Amino acid sequence: MIQVDLTNVTKFLPGHYEDELIPRLRQAHEQLQKGSGVGGEFTGWERLTRDYDREEYRRIKEAARRIRENSQALVVIGIGGSYLGARGVIECLRSPNYNLRRKDTPNIYFVGNGLSSDALEEVMELVQDVDFSVNVISKSGTTTEPAVAFRFFRAMLENKYGEEEAARRIYATTDAKKGALKALADEKGYETFVVPDDIGGRYSVLTAVGLLPIAVAGIDMDALMFGAGEMMERCSVADLNANPAWQYAAARHAMYKAGKKIEILACFEPSFRFMAEWWKQLYGESEGKEGKGLFPVSVEFTADLHSMGQYIQQGERTFFETVVRFGPSHHLNLVPYDQQNGDGLNFIAGKSMDFIRQQAMDGTLLAHVEGGVPNVVMYTGPNHEITLGGLIYFFEYSCGLSGYLLNVNPFDQPGVEAYKKNMFALLGKPGYEELGRELHQRLGR
Ligand code: PA5
Repeated sequence: MIQVDLTNVTKFLPGHYEDELIPRLRQAHEQLQKGSGVGGEFTGWERLTRDYDREEYRRIKEAARRIRENSQALVVIGIGGSYLGARGVIECLRSPNYNLRRKDTPNIYFVGNGLSSDALEEVMELVQDVDFSVNVISKSGTTTEPAVAFRFFRAMLENKYGEEEAARRIYATTDAKKGALKALADEKGYETFVVPDDIGGRYSVLTAVGLLPIAVAGIDMDALMFGAGEMMERCSVADLNANPAWQYAAARHAMYKAGKKIEILACFEPSFRFMAEWWKQLYGESEGKEGKGLFPVSVEFTADLHSMGQYIQQGERTFFETVVRFGPSHHLNLVPYDQQNGDGLNFIAGKSMDFIRQQAMDGTLLAHVEGGVPNVVMYTGPNHEITLGGLIYFFEYSCGLSGYLLNVNPFDQPGVEAYKKNMFALLGKPGYEELGRELHQRLGR
């Protein structure tokens, strides 16, 4: 059961800061519930765990079973919201070392999330001698990075298996009706899954976008959806004392107004790294517009206490931390006793790693708060499908509320187009000639 502890935040804020936010939270909440706010046509994720397409859900499980049976690897092609959620969930629940582990599920490689030739080549080498399938994910169907990567992997599959069998090994997750990928999938006969019209990329992890790779990795998607569903119930209550998303959204908004411009998401679990990447996209893309928004960054403790720790303790006081604290680990490792005690650590011999970590968490909290860094602490329970489903929904709902408190549209991303336009112009895409000439001139070539 996720709990938001604001004890170490309130002392940095004016007393009863929440009181003046309650009417605005109530309004934002109603806008999310009814889809009546700006961008309301993209709030389908809010009721997804109740209203999802049961028939497609069954097909996802069936496709995952087939991929597990006939493939040693799955190549997931997608960028931004089309891959971060799946990667976050798989790494968190199955480990960042998932591909290296002994297991009865395929390796999973994420490509098409950048333009590195070497990264692409590496994965092509890794799958060339094994049976593999491809899940290409793009809502628009025209995003350059995944589209380019798909050309390579589609050609590989067709050369290896012939067109017909390749088509059986390609799964396309895209718009229900339109777009280049949908057209190609229809022409070639790929099995398709839908990115619903009313759900944007960064809110789509609990649709086929995230669920197919997640299911291939052997993760219990029913439990994930159950956890999200439970959290949906909690977030539907219009009461600050009962709704954790209200509490988090209010605290981070008040912090922003009090001059904190950066939110650091911290976790003491290395497997959380890609969940933090997912969170950064969710909040960065939803809030960072019109010259506003907290800048989301992430750290991994205790590793980063030995790199970023110095800055957090004594650098500029322009940020606050949100610390995700998972419950007990799955393994109990007791520190061995050492006769020689050269490192002087026999005083913790026989103690569990969890116990030691707990003291590190508490020590860090006290030090950072003492150093002037407000801390939101999120208690989540053990690292498990139900926990993670709940956490995903919690962050999504809080993000929608936060965007509305900030008076921005939390569901668009107009700024993402700027680099694409310039890249197309520099690449000589038809229609971009004039801008291309201007940019080449500015670059002095
Ligand atoms: O959140 C978003 O909308 C973006 O991150 C998109 O997911 C990303 O740009 C990929 O877009 P597409 O799925 O259309 O290829």
